[in-house]
Amino acid sequence: MTAKPSIIVAITGASGAIYGVRLLQLLRQADMFSHLVISSAGWMNLAAEVALSQTEIEGLAGEVHNPKDVGATIASGSFVTQGMIIAPCSMKTLASVAHGFSDNLITRCADVVLKERRRLVMMVRETPFNLAHLRNMVAVTEMGGIVYPPLPQFYHRPESIQALVDHTCQRVLDLFGISSPDMPRWPGLKVSLQTGA
Ligand SMILES: Cc1cc2nc3c(=O)[nH]c(=O)nc-3n(C[C@H](O)[C@H](O)[C@H](O)COP(=O)(O)O)c2cc1C
Repeated sequence: MTAKPSIIVAITGASGAIYGVRLLQLLRQADMFSHLVISSAGWMNLAAEVALSQTEIEGLAGEVHNPKDVGATIASGSFVTQGMIIAPCSMKTLASVAHGFSDNLITRCADVVLKERRRLVMMVRETPFNLAHLRNMVAVTEMGGIVYPPLPQFYHRPESIQALVDHTCQRVLDLFGISSPDMPRWPGLKVSLQTGA
């Protein structure tokens, strides 16, 4: 077992690979150990969307695992982690987790995190949703997982894509009790409301 508290980060083949990459950076800044698993479709999206090499991406993680290696440490509930973030999460991986399919290390880890009643956050990405997607999100929620589509917030008036990505990732880390000091938080409305009264 690693000395630092650890979180599993999986990058699957949905658009938004940057979320997984940014989470790895923020976890390192927070002195957390990350276990990284990237599916083959996840690598396709990383190549399409992120200007970093495989070595650079893997270098952001504490330990990298092969998605086929269902014998990895993190595949067992006896290996203690704080939980798992799937960032981004494809509809295929969502379906697999919703049905306890455990056909690779990513879906096995999610299954383990749920059975051990640890925190599972799934940053699902597709639009629009069909009924299977919606039902699978309900199933994961009923099992205790958190469905967190990376929908941007605008109340902090972001001026760049990076600011949007950062805020979403920081909100996800909030769910693990990892607080980012520089995260913009809702200050309350500073303008008087037009009530019409
Ligand atoms: C460039 C690209 C973008 C994709 N975007 C999405 C997406 O946003 N959401 C999704 O559910 N699947 C998306 N897919 C399809 C998944 O990658 C595909 O279903 C794959 O089997 C998912 O496997 P994985 O969950 O093991 O990574 C995309 C595929 C490619 C090649």
